Amino acid sequence: MKTYEVAVVPGDGIGKEVVPASLKVLDTIADIHGGLKFQYKEFPWSCEYYLEHGQMMPDDGLGILKNFDSIFLGAIGNPKLVPDHVSLWGLLIKIRREFEQSINIRPAKFFKGLRSPLVNPNDFDLIVVRENSEGEYSEVGGRIHKGEDEIAIQNAIFTKTGTKRAMKYAFDLAKQRRNHVTSATKSNGIVHSMPFWDEVFKETEQEYPDVQTASYHIDALAAFFVTRPQIFDIIVASNLFGDILTDIGGAIMGSIGIAPAANININGRYPSMFEPVHGSAPDIAGKGIANPIGQIWTAKMMLDHFGESELGQKLLDTVEEVTNDGIKTSDIGGNATTIEVADEICSRLKKTA
Ligand code: NAI
Ligand code: MG
Repeated sequence: MKTYEVAVVPGDGIGKEVVPASLKVLDTIADIHGGLKFQYKEFPWSCEYYLEHGQMMPDDGLGILKNFDSIFLGAIGNPKLVPDHVSLWGLLIKIRREFEQSINIRPAKFFKGLRSPLVNPNDFDLIVVRENSEGEYSEVGGRIHKGEDEIAIQNAIFTKTGTKRAMKYAFDLAKQRRNHVTSATKSNGIVHSMPFWDEVFKETEQEYPDVQTASYHIDALAAFFVTRPQIFDIIVASNLFGDILTDIGGAIMGSIGIAPAANININGRYPSMFEPVHGSAPDIAGKGIANPIGQIWTAKMMLDHFGESELGQKLLDTVEEVTNDGIKTSDIGGNATTIEVADEICSRLKKTA
C-alpha cells in the first residue's frame, strides 16, 4: 500500500466547501486504485484562526508542514475579518517562498460543456510553466528624490540557476506530453535579461533533441493565446510574463472556478502546494454552490506530481464528462451544488473501476 501524507488547509470562504468535496473525490480515486491511500491532516489556519490567535498559522507552522508529502490548499482571505495583505502574506506567500516553490504551473484546456469566451476555441490544451521565485518580481531597486525629480528603479533578477531550472522543468514536462516547448521572450525590447533568457533556452533545447521548440515575443504570444491557443503545448515564461499569460489561460477556459495551479518545489527539500487559482469568493461562500472543479483539478495535478498520472488523467476525463453532461454549478451555466458535482464525479469513477 502506497500512502501519501497530505496536509490539508481549507482556509476561508468557499475553500471550506470545495476542499472537503475534493477529498471525497481523492478518496474515491484511492479506493478504485486499491493500492493507494491518502492520509490527511487538516489545519484550521485561516482568517478566523487569526482572530483567535493573532497569526495566520502557529510559529512552527512551516516546521509542521515540512514533513508532509504535499500541501492541499483551498483559498485564503476574508477581508471583512483580516486585511488581505496580512492573511495572504502570513500563510500562502510564506509557504510559497520558504518552501522554495520555484515553479508555478497552470494548465488551461478547452473543456467540453463549458462556454469559452473565444468564438472559436478549437481544442486547446496547454500548460504555462512560470518561473516563480525571481525575474521581474524582485525587491531590488529603490526610489530617490521627491516631486518632479523623483526616480524609481526596479531591477529584474535572472539567475542562470533559476532560468535553467524553469526551462528544464518545461522540457521534462513536454516529454510527457506533445514534445513542444514555446519560450516567452522579449529580447527585442529588453536588451539584457531577455537575450540571456534566449541563450539559456537555446542551451537547454540542445539537451532535449526530441523536443520541438518555438520562441515568441510576449506581446505576440499573448495575442496567440486568444487567436490560436491550440498551437501551444508547454510555454515557459518568466515570473511577470507567466503571471499575465496564466490569467489569459484561465479566461479562455470560461470560468475562474475551474482553473487549477501548482506551486512546485523541485529540489525535494520541501513539499509542493496544490491550490485552485480562485480565491475564497466571499460573495457565494456558505451557499454550497461553489464550483469544485478548480480544486478537483489541483488534486489531479497532485496525483501527477506523485507519479500517478494515469489516475490523474482518468479523473480529469471524468470531470469533463460530467461537465459535458450538464451536471455543473451556476458559474458555468448549471444548477448543481458543489456536493452534487463531486458526488457525480465519484459515482462515475466507481463505475469505470
Ligand atoms: P475570488 O476568486 O474569490 O472571486 C472572484 C469571483 O469569482 C467572485 O464573484 C466569485 O464568486 C467567483 N468565483 C471564484 N471561485 C469560484 C468558484 N469556485 N465557483 C464559482 N464562482 C467562483 O476573488 P476575489 O473576490 O478577488 O477575492 C476574494 C478573497 O480571496 C480575497 O480575500 C482575496 O485576497 C482572496 N484570494 C485568495 C487567493 C488564494 O488563496 N490563492 C487567490 C485570489 C484571491
Ligand atoms: Mg495573477
